[in-house]
Amino acid sequence: MNILVTGGAGYIGTHTCVALLEAGNSVIVADNLCNSTAESIEKVKQITNKELTFYQMDVTDAEKVEAIFSKHKIDGVIHFAGLKAVGESVVKPLTYYYNNIISTMILTKYCQKYGVNRFVFSSSATVYGDNTVPFIETMDLLPTTNPYGETKAMSERILTDIAKANPEFSVAILRYFNPVGAHESGLIGEAPNGIPNNLMPYVSQVAKGKFEKLRVFGNDYPTIDGTGVRDYIHVLDLAEGHVAALDHLKNGVHVYNLGTGQGTSVLELVKAFEEANGIDIPYEIVERRPGDIASCYADASKANRELGWTARRDIIAMCRDAWRFEKNYKDLVESK
Ligand code: NAD
Ligand code: UFG
Repeated sequence: MNILVTGGAGYIGTHTCVALLEAGNSVIVADNLCNSTAESIEKVKQITNKELTFYQMDVTDAEKVEAIFSKHKIDGVIHFAGLKAVGESVVKPLTYYYNNIISTMILTKYCQKYGVNRFVFSSSATVYGDNTVPFIETMDLLPTTNPYGETKAMSERILTDIAKANPEFSVAILRYFNPVGAHESGLIGEAPNGIPNNLMPYVSQVAKGKFEKLRVFGNDYPTIDGTGVRDYIHVLDLAEGHVAALDHLKNGVHVYNLGTGQGTSVLELVKAFEEANGIDIPYEIVERRPGDIASCYADASKANRELGWTARRDIIAMCRDAWRFEKNYKDLVESK
């Protein structure tokens, strides 16, 4: 199939491009590089030894989006392009609503016009809000506490309404839990700008000596050791989940959790990182981070049942691969 991957130069996008190319698909990437670099596209080619087509463009630009649909015979779209920093979305809500929602509307508009009926959307476990774990697709969604989460919930509703009105349209809404890790080549991975917000990149940068210690946000949650519990999923498993979703698309909207079903606390993750890589991670317990919930993990059985997909890589592999990329990335950056 010929797949248009928006946001294909980003963290999850690059890994998914690798999985799509390895499964024999052709890939067209549209990315404005607002949170990535063109070099990551070269790395995808290097890993797979295959070509892909890359357009540096904004997917809120309707004319440019239409130009792709008219030039290429697209069989399906995977829509990753989006802004994702929760804290920034509180400060710049309009930027987030505009980017994340208009992009979904423009892409679906041209899907309709050009008869493209396969659409895979990047959603997030954040749409469950502070529900009872494990989160299951049939749950009523609770309000999220930030504009970023709202853009995901709204995009889900827009896609649902479009599919209701167009019986041929097939949509998979994939709710990711916490993607971590990197390709085993160490060539692509997560490289956040500035101080990382997320746990695994922060831990990796403590390991690298960039920060003295990890700050653990609260140890008084009702969890196994008082620290926050999340469902970390290897980005390569996540990427394979997209290929499975595309292969099993059927008419209507189908929502799938992509997680492992396994909760890991902050301190358990620190321990796994130390064990996987033989490096001590000093930490201190500090105040809770506003907006955090105690526990978030998936019931991932629907994706297994309907897509034949299951996450295969464990927390040790996630920590090992995250660290390999961090080390390698440092070398790449410092050698410039
Ligand atoms: P990322 O920032 O690495 O990748 C997103 C890519 O989209 C970037 O390359 C960026 O340049 C591009 N982009 C953003 N707006 C664009 C626009 N208007 N036009 C063209 N390109 C644009 O992020 P990621 O972690 O790979 O996330 C991919 C998707 O998955 C996002 O929609 C994100 O909200 C969602 N998601 C991510 C996580 C996570 O923890 N990483 C969790 C749940 C959902
Ligand atoms: N944490 C720390 N110290 C840090 C960073 C994080 O203790 O320096 C803790 C958090 O308090 C939380 C856990 O580590 O308990 C995970 O935090 P992350 O920031 O890595 O991830 P979140 O679960 O908060 O959020 C992530 C993405 C969201 C997405 C959500 C979906 O950032 O965009 O997963 O589950 F919506």
